[in-house]
Amino acid sequence: MKLFAGTPGWTTEADVIVIGSGVAGLTTALNARAANLSVLLVTKAHIDEGSTKWAQGGIAAALGPGDSPEEHREDTLIAGAGLCDLDAVNVLVSEGPEAVRKLIARGAVFDKAESGEIALTREGGHHRNRILHAGGDATGAEVSRALLAAVQNDSGIEVIEHALVIDALQAADGRVCGVTLHVIGVGSSSGVGRALARAVVIATGGLGQVYSQTTNPSVSTGDGVALALRAGAAVADVEFIQFHPTVLWSDTSAAGQQPLISEAVRGEGAILLNHQGERFMEAVHPQADLAPRDIVAKEIFNQMREEHVPHMWLDATGIDDFKERFPTIYASCMANGIDPEQQLIPVAPASHYASGGVLVDLNGESSVPGLYVCGESACTGAHGANRLASNSLLEGLVFGARISEHIAGNLPEQSEPHEDLSEQRVLIDPSIRIPLQLAMSEGAGVMRSAKSLKATLATLEQLGKRQIKEPGVKAWEASNLYFLASAIVRSALERHESRGSHWRTDYLETSAEWEQRIIQHLDKAGTWSSSKVAVAK
Ligand code: SIN
Repeated sequence: MKLFAGTPGWTTEADVIVIGSGVAGLTTALNARAANLSVLLVTKAHIDEGSTKWAQGGIAAALGPGDSPEEHREDTLIAGAGLCDLDAVNVLVSEGPEAVRKLIARGAVFDKAESGEIALTREGGHHRNRILHAGGDATGAEVSRALLAAVQNDSGIEVIEHALVIDALQAADGRVCGVTLHVIGVGSSSGVGRALARAVVIATGGLGQVYSQTTNPSVSTGDGVALALRAGAAVADVEFIQFHPTVLWSDTSAAGQQPLISEAVRGEGAILLNHQGERFMEAVHPQADLAPRDIVAKEIFNQMREEHVPHMWLDATGIDDFKERFPTIYASCMANGIDPEQQLIPVAPASHYASGGVLVDLNGESSVPGLYVCGESACTGAHGANRLASNSLLEGLVFGARISEHIAGNLPEQSEPHEDLSEQRVLIDPSIRIPLQLAMSEGAGVMRSAKSLKATLATLEQLGKRQIKEPGVKAWEASNLYFLASAIVRSALERHESRGSHWRTDYLETSAEWEQRIIQHLDKAGTWSSSKVAVAK
């Protein structure tokens, strides 16, 4: 299945196309260059505008005294609630420290303790301080700065900014051999081009825009995952949408990207309070306010429901140097009229991270040959049902390196794209975006049930009927959101249990029978099918 788009009016070519300029895309591009491959890096907005730069907390890696990859693995497995792929977790935690050292060698500067050693903090689900951070709470911005400087210094990486990738180009045998793309702002037909390559890497980040409130920027419409789905790739674990427990609550009508209040604020001692001024996490989990993220988000949601209030409170007044330690959060609180050194911060959960995505192997290759996926767009299995805090930048670093190594060692000849005239083409009216987000937040959010999910699916099916034939960025994005929302709801409906960040009010228990991944497929005619596979332990 493909999106309706104009006939490509121009062609470009490289050994490898990398789509996305966050930590996963930049790392893959740099490592592919180190293997002497030519790289075309395509990014939807300005090169530094993806999700990575918004990451506050940091990068988890077993670098501190007494810490070990085994302890990091244990915390990752616990957070993943029985659905992590053990091999993927082993890769992540054992190759993580070296990947971080390489990032430092590429110029990233992390905050230091008074001793001169890298300062390590703690976030939800970690039993040790193992989170590296930079600029206090501006870790993503520093990682992005360092990698971008290296990319911009390399004349073997061609960058196309402000370009939306539409669909994969595939050879007669299905191998991905390029993509169609639109340079935003150039007329919708004449602006469509094709880029050919011997391997394509999707690193387009998250899909937070499927929901009304999210920590993700407006460009996070999951374009790469939707492209892969339409190219026939398997997607997995998409029902596990992680809701960050603490975004700054401003208004019941707030929509779009919301300011994040990093878990590291709780790592430095802040506590959650209800509207009676009582702590509520101590009664729920031994790690209290630093329990894994899904547990904290659910409890905040429960408290909000019980008290009929739109938010809880975060008390960070006990942190002495808040302004210096968390300058970004301080600024966003102050911009909302809250002085976090003196006042409680109103917080509520919002969609934050897709723990699943395009199913890939340990080399990042999807079920469609030639199509690799890295970072949040991928399902490596390392996150299971709930990603451990600060494992995401790490995943981009580790798997970006593995993908480029695998591509370099297995580079095929350039294949010729083949147009399959029997393949269904669709395009959905951009007007569906807001009703889709509202339906998803209402029926497939922190809590779901068969009733709410069936109602959401019915709404999606109605919205999907609003087909148009006038291509453009808003319609391509809306179509992508439609396919992703459909995949999430279908998987969530199928999983008859509660686990990790999938919380069914009609199936409250976690069931051993469900230690399985749900895989979704979309065929050329637009028909969905699903299957289940046991998780590798
Ligand atoms: C945070 O800083 O709380 C977010 C970190 C993450 O998503 O891993």
